[in-house]
This record gives sequence, C-alpha cells and structure tokens, in this order.
Amino acid sequence: MTTVETTLTGPPPEPDRDPVPAAQPPVRDWPACDLDGTAFDPVLAGFMREGPLTRIRLPHGEGWAWLATRYEDVRLITNDPRFGRAEVTRRQVTRMAPNFAPRPGSLAWADQPDHNRLRKAVAGAFTVSAAKRLRPRAQAVLDELVDGVLADGPPADLVERVLEPFPLTVVSEVMGVPSADRERVHAWTRQIISTSGGPEAAGRAKTGLYGWITATVRARAHSTDEDVYALLGRAVLRGEIAEEEAVGLAGPLQIGGEAVTHNCGQMLYLMLTRPELMERMRTRPEARGPVLDELLRHIPHRSSVGLARIAREDVEVAGRLIAAGEPVYVSYLAANRDPAVFPDPDRIDPDRDPNPHLAFGNGPHYCTGAVLARLQTELLVDTLLDRLPGLRLAVPPTEVRWRQKTMIRGPRTLPVTW
Ligand code: HEM
Repeated sequence: MTTVETTLTGPPPEPDRDPVPAAQPPVRDWPACDLDGTAFDPVLAGFMREGPLTRIRLPHGEGWAWLATRYEDVRLITNDPRFGRAEVTRRQVTRMAPNFAPRPGSLAWADQPDHNRLRKAVAGAFTVSAAKRLRPRAQAVLDELVDGVLADGPPADLVERVLEPFPLTVVSEVMGVPSADRERVHAWTRQIISTSGGPEAAGRAKTGLYGWITATVRARAHSTDEDVYALLGRAVLRGEIAEEEAVGLAGPLQIGGEAVTHNCGQMLYLMLTRPELMERMRTRPEARGPVLDELLRHIPHRSSVGLARIAREDVEVAGRLIAAGEPVYVSYLAANRDPAVFPDPDRIDPDRDPNPHLAFGNGPHYCTGAVLARLQTELLVDTLLDRLPGLRLAVPPTEVRWRQKTMIRGPRTLPVTW
C-alpha cells in the first residue's frame, strides 16, 4: 500500500504527470523470410513479446508503420472508422509486396460509404444460403476429382489433384464463368498466382483476365441469374457501380480460391502429421467442426502482414498515440495466439471453447469469401477422410516442400498414399 500525503489547507496535489511523452519504440526490420512447414514466424513472435505496439519496416515501400499484435487492439483497429484504407493507395507505405497497383473497385482498399456500396453489389453470392445451394454441386465437383485419384491409385499429390482444381472450379461456379471459358480463365488465374513465370507472365495473364471480365460483365447486364458476373452486370446497368469498379471487384474474387488451396494444404499437413488429431476426426465426424476452427486459428495463413490502414485522426491504442496520417498494420496471426484470449495458444486444442479466432479478419473488411471457404474446407476434409480411410503422407514430413517467396503459405506438393 502506498500513502498519499495531503496538506490540510490546499487541494490534494495533482498526481505526478510525466512531462516527456513515452519514447517511441524502435523501428524493427521485418525481412521477407521463407518459413518451412507450419512454423510460426519467429520475427512476429519477437514483436509480440516486445509489444503491444511496435514499429516495423517491411522490404518495400517507404518509412515505418505501427504493428498491433494483441487480440483486443487488432479488433479495435479493424473495426474503427478512424483507421482507413483508401489513403494507403495514395502513399508508398512500407509493405511486403514489391508491386503496388490497387484498382478502383477493390473491396480491400475501399472505405465507407464506397465499401458498403461495392460489397452490396456481390454480397448475395456469398451468403450462407448461397453456400447451401452450392453445396451439392461443389460436392459433385470434389467427388469427380477424388474418383480420378482413386482410379489412378496411390501415390498422389493432393495439391495438384484436388486442392488446386477444386477451389478453382467452385469459384468459377459462384462467379458464373461459362463452361466454354473455364479453361482460359483457370489458366490466367493459375499464372497470376503462380510464383514461377515472373512478373511479365503474371502481367500478361492479368491483362487477359481483366479484359475477359470487362466483356463478361457487359454481356451479363440483362441476365436474371444470381452469379457474381450477373449481379455485377445488373449493378452497372442500374448505375450503382461503375464498370471499372465491377472489374476491380471481380478480379480478387475470381482469384480468391488460392487462399483455400494453401490454407487447406496446411490443414491437411497438420492432420497428416498428428495421428491423434486424425484419429479423433475419423472416429468423431460429428465433432469435426470445432477442430476445423481450431486449425484455422492455428494455421499461419500468410507471410508477414497483409494490408495497412492509416489513422485519419489521432487515436490512442494500448496507451500510445497513433498520430493522424501514420500507417498501422494488424496481425491476425498474432491475435490468434494471444494468451489473454486463447490459453496455451501454441497448442492445437481440439476442445478449445470458446474459439473466437480471427482467421478471416474482422470488421468491415472481414473476408468476403469466408462462408465459401468454410464450405470448401468442410467438404474437403469430410470427403478425403471418408473416401480415403487409410490416408497418410507418402514421404517423411520433412520432405514435404513448401511455397517460397509468397504471400500465402502452404505446401507446394502433398504426396499421399492410402
Ligand atoms: C479478405 C482470409 C478465402 C475473398 C480476407 C482477409 C483475411 C482473409 C484475413 C483480410 C481482412 C482484412 O483486410 O482486414 C481468408 C482465408 C481464406 C480466404 C483464411 C481461406 C481459408 C477467400 C475466398 C475468397 C476471398 C475463397 C473469394 C472467393 C476475399 C476478399 C477480401 C478478403 C475479396 C477483401 C474483403 C474486404 O476488404 O472487404 N480474407 N480468405 N477469401 N478475402 Fe479472404
């Protein structure tokens, strides 16, 4: 107990105030590093220990940015309109990606009220009921792929045979890509997300894909269907969004399946290298849902951090002042390992309850494709476990090769047998 002395005559003294503002934390470099397997980034773990707010410099762009790693601060920043995205497109904020060319219409870079206007145009295709309608068709697509794997016999590379083609086809169903165009669209998508081929090949594929999207949005203006290109065509016709916005909106959605390929690649690797987890999922299929959530929480989905926000006014976060104009990153991966919310956070605990993870983000920029991604993840795990009961890795875990120099982490190949 401390005692406070007061004089009998005057008012109690003012509490001591530090006249010097707290020193800014040092700016730390966060180099792009290729991490193997599902290891948690040790640099990020260091920032979490130093935090709650640190300052970082990434390989590209200019200057430094704040980084928030605590669950509570990540939720606050991502749900507070005092932090915006649009301003980032006018600056060279320190970032992971070498190239930076945001398009008009991109959901990720829009602030309100534009963000709501744009998201409303496509929301109907990404609801829970849309996913329910899609389910039988998605299951049929997956069954056909697994039929092929079974017919050819072991071993098989799950990435090539299932994890890549399945989300690509499902996304094309949701978007409304006509079957005659699928091969072309899938070839462009593959080229854009591939790490081989270099920036020129990716640039040519983008030109091809975006030209095709423009023509398709125009062609679907009078369609009564509920797929994304029809929704966009009608929204342009009604004057709710501009044609170039429709194209900027559709591009990332058309490419969004990539996230499912790599996230499910990590998920299956975790299951295939943890016999007790696999056993539990096999013997208690009704309890798979919470395990999938625990794996989504645990998986280090991406390298480093995603997209910055900029403070539009002074905001106090975790006892520090983030001044107007300063850029801020949040780490959903770090928030998902915050011990204040997830006890023993590095452990995969299939009984974790509650599990309010942020694998799909938070706030207005919450992943548009979350319900779709969840549907595909469930179908993939159920179908592979049920149809390939002896499923196991065909190589030692240390021989699985991982993607390098990439934003989204995952295995390059997943050789399995059964
Ligand atoms: C945004 C995760 C699959 C489309 C995001 C964000 C995360 C995320 C963390 C960022 C939130 C932020 O910026 O604060 C994931 C994971 C996936 C997945 C873990 C798979 C397991 C998909 C799919 C699609 C998709 C399948 C589309 C078909 C988008 C879009 C945004 C986004 C368009 C930007 C939304 C906005 O800024 O309003 N996702 N995603 N994602 N995701 Fe996903």
